[in-house]
Amino acid sequence: MLDIHDHRILILDFGSQYTQLIARRIREIGVYCEIYPYDVAPERLAQFAPKGVVLSGGPESVTLDEAPQAPTWIFESGLPILGICYGMQTMAAQLQGQVAASSKREFGHATINFEPSSPLFAHLTAPQQQLHVWMSHGDKVTQLPQGFHAIAHTSSAPIAAMACEEKKYYGVQFHPEVTHTEQGLTLLKNFVVEICGCDCRWTAEQIVQASIDSVRQQVGSDEVLLGLSGGVDSSVVAALLHQAIGEQLTCVFVDNGLLRLNEGDQVMQTFADNLGVKVIRVNAEERFLNALKGIADPELKRKKIGNLFIEVFEEQAADCQNAKWLAQGTIYPDVIESAGAASGKAHVIKSHHNVGGLPEHMQLKLVEPLRELFKDEVRRIGEQLNLPHELLYRHPFPGPGLGVRILGEVTKQAADVLRLADDIFIQELRAHHLYDKVSQAFAVYLPVKSVGVTGDARCYEPVVALRAVETVDFMTAKWSELPYDFLAHVSNRILNEVPGLSRVTYDISGKPPATIEWE
Ligand code: XMP
Repeated sequence: MLDIHDHRILILDFGSQYTQLIARRIREIGVYCEIYPYDVAPERLAQFAPKGVVLSGGPESVTLDEAPQAPTWIFESGLPILGICYGMQTMAAQLQGQVAASSKREFGHATINFEPSSPLFAHLTAPQQQLHVWMSHGDKVTQLPQGFHAIAHTSSAPIAAMACEEKKYYGVQFHPEVTHTEQGLTLLKNFVVEICGCDCRWTAEQIVQASIDSVRQQVGSDEVLLGLSGGVDSSVVAALLHQAIGEQLTCVFVDNGLLRLNEGDQVMQTFADNLGVKVIRVNAEERFLNALKGIADPELKRKKIGNLFIEVFEEQAADCQNAKWLAQGTIYPDVIESAGAASGKAHVIKSHHNVGGLPEHMQLKLVEPLRELFKDEVRRIGEQLNLPHELLYRHPFPGPGLGVRILGEVTKQAADVLRLADDIFIQELRAHHLYDKVSQAFAVYLPVKSVGVTGDARCYEPVVALRAVETVDFMTAKWSELPYDFLAHVSNRILNEVPGLSRVTYDISGKPPATIEWE
């Protein structure tokens, strides 16, 4: 059987904001790769047995004492190496070239003139041998190590890329992984496919097949339990495990009464009705609302919701006594983030803020079929498994659900009002083709009362705020400049169709200083 991991690339991380992007691009090309911290133990690298190595960029300067260095193992291994930005500089410095610090960091677009005979620049369509690239660096290589020659220059940098073709060592001062660099993907493909000799085996179809085989091998005829939330990761795990082990899988879907409009029914329809997955729906709305009675503190609300989730989930698990495994939707970025530098201990249970970590006494072994995948790959295999596009590309939704979107005490009445307002907002974003342009959008229930007039009567009712943000990583975000006429239309609909509200406002706060959720 074809081993889709067999042809693989090692990425050593020096701390660049783009390291995960390098990995995603290489996988997009169809080649498996993993990211390790630059100071990982050499035995682990030898064990990983890659066909080539990429050294990422990083924020440090190689000219400083104690600057991070690539392990000497890679230069002794005989493997092809591509250094990107800091990776190029440390390669140059470690191989006895010279690197000089520059007083200011250079960011942004630049044009390189490249040497078309270099295998790194093969298959490019650039008639003038010029490419627009994205630079972000402080230092530059001023003297090449022995055996190297320059393969690209800019008007201000004579060594914008370097190569020692005999050893298959390459360095680029710019970032081929970002989309601002023209034909960066071709350049990366030249390296991983032509220079390192990797076959393109990493495709959605092959990943699904390999994951099915591996899950079957791992769990045998045991039964598996999965907490299904309706989010992308747990949904893809459910669909994948269903294909792999069918009836051996039991999903528990806890309806906590804090979901979006009709969400519970949609989850049941997608999984139980359409795919034939065994799903136990636990209608726990009343228990959650009772537990939240009188509580306004956001942290306390989160705790209550998290603990009660575990309690409810455990009760269901007790009814599935034969289950030996717990499936989780841990994905590769969780694994990378929880792997401390050089600790080698990547395997931690996701302290999923939705689940809060399930207690050890459940004594279930973990099966995590998405551990190797980036979010975009999870979505792609979800498509391969025929999950609906709408589910796979839905905005993120917090585990505590409307519990963090109803300020103050959570009541059924507030949740019902909020669900209706939120649904109108989302419906309209979709209808106006704005849904995919924003990263996350929702309504928030504010318990402050404000005066309004309905018909001839004065009313005194709560307020709803609309929030829509644009972001890449959800760590920072800008508020979305939705068109005024669109906002006017949404506001009209909400005030006309949802009883019990006095006004609608639009949140124009960025993150930072505000967060995305209001809590
Ligand atoms: P903040 O509000 O911190 O949110 O700017 C950043 C992103 O995280 C989501 N979020 C959560 N997701 N469980 C989750 O799964 C949670 O408890 C949780 N709290 C916030 C939020 O929706 C946004 O996308």
